Amino acid sequence: MALKSEDIGKIRNAEISDIERVVEIANSSLTEYYTTNLMMDLYHSWRDAFMVYTLNDRIIGFIAGGKFSRTEARILLLAVEEKFRHLGIGKALMNDFIDLCRMHNIMSIRLEVRTDNTEAIHFYQKYGFSTISTIRAYYSDSSDAYLMWKLI
Ligand SMILES: CC(C)(COP(=O)(O)OP(=O)(O)OC[C@H]1O[C@@H](n2cnc3c(N)ncnc32)[C@H](O)[C@@H]1OP(=O)(O)O)[C@@H](O)C(=O)NCCC(=O)NCCS
Repeated sequence: MALKSEDIGKIRNAEISDIERVVEIANSSLTEYYTTNLMMDLYHSWRDAFMVYTLNDRIIGFIAGGKFSRTEARILLLAVEEKFRHLGIGKALMNDFIDLCRMHNIMSIRLEVRTDNTEAIHFYQKYGFSTISTIRAYYSDSSDAYLMWKLI
């Protein structure tokens, strides 16, 4: 899908009223199942790091970050609605998240990604994430995850 010149894409902090839509994107993009309650917990864990990308006021992507320690952040969830992928939306969300982390004196970011999710792995590699280790049976279907990490 191409964006039109009149389309307006924006990133803003998520609000509680956005959570249902975010759950919808998560469950259509990711293999784990996310409930509204779980998403609310993520939202409350670090509200500034829960951001949505809107196109003409409709949410089409989001990122949920968390703190792993005082100086390390985590990307908990990142997803863009399928028909809007490869348009730079993931990149925009990632850049805003990194900027936020820098403002909070975070020095590194970690994340887990399914070992068969080559699309996301390429995306993260492009942003300088390296694979640190493999976590066996990380997901509910017993699939493995790569732990990826980046200094910022
Ligand atoms: C991973 C994801 C968020 C990327 O979002 P996106 O909006 O499509 O990514 P962007 O368009 O911003 O891509 C930025 C860069 O990442 C790389 N990239 C993105 N998709 C890629 C792919 N399929 N293959 C290789 N590289 C890719 C490209 O280098 C791209 O830069 P370029 O367009 O200048 O070449 C998106 O694919 C997605 O929602 N996937 C499903 C959910 C998911 O797997 N999330 C991660 C779970 S850990």
